[in-house]
Amino acid sequence: MYYVLLGPPGVGKGTQAQLLVKKLGIPQISTGDMLRAEVKQKTPLGKRVRQILEKGELVSDDLMLKIVEERLKKPDCTRGFILDGFPRTIPQAEGLKGILQKLNGITLRVVEISVPDEEIVARLTNRRICSQCQKVYNLLLAAPKVAGICDECGGALIQRKDDREDVIKNRLMVYRKQTKPLIEYYKKEGVYQAVNGLQPIETVCRQILQMHGMNGLKASG
Ligand code: AP5
Repeated sequence: MYYVLLGPPGVGKGTQAQLLVKKLGIPQISTGDMLRAEVKQKTPLGKRVRQILEKGELVSDDLMLKIVEERLKKPDCTRGFILDGFPRTIPQAEGLKGILQKLNGITLRVVEISVPDEEIVARLTNRRICSQCQKVYNLLLAAPKVAGICDECGGALIQRKDDREDVIKNRLMVYRKQTKPLIEYYKKEGVYQAVNGLQPIETVCRQILQMHGMNGLKASG
């Protein structure tokens, strides 16, 4: 169970990764969350990448590959993992291939989640995230029970700095130019599958699980 969730910003990669963690008991590796944690803690790395994230540009491939390689060596990754937001360029995909070969030739399952751009803008401008546990909410469709407070841990909900409409548009452009070519790349590798992200959250999760013969696992709960 070595997943890559692929797709433009706001299609639901993080939302699905969080559900799959609960269902499959393997870790979510969100490179965006990892970078935002560095920014929050004002580490040297965080200071280096803060502006890149705020503009919606990509952090360099070398740096991302180093971060991901370190993370994949941790013991919790031995049974599987869900990569969310990585790889994002062809050099990152090539680098990942080399890392996985070193880790006993793991085979990836790449799932593209797709949603039209208009829906993405609506989703991202209404997204709120728990500042403590990173649970993802949506003010229109998946609102917290108490406004501004995380249902699961009581943490304060925040809006990401890159969820402004102008930055979202740039992120979509960056996606089309640098990340979309990965679809053809993984089709050629024979590991690509796609799911329609316009369906309810639980339906998308069920379809991802069914793709890989895990029909017995329920998508919710
Ligand atoms: P990252 O954090 O990876 O952001 P992203 O790819 O832009 O994706 P998002 O987190 O915005 O969206 P998502 O698809 O996870 O959607 P979500 O589930 O939250 O990266 C941020 C930045 O870090 C990058 O711009 C870059 O600078 C840097 N970075 C990260 N990785 C990098 C890398 N590998 N290389 C270089 N730089 C890197 O859902 C969105 C909203 O929709 C939520 O409100 C949710 O509730 C709602 N929703 C979800 N599913 C549904 C549904 N089915 N129906 C209705 N609403 C839904």
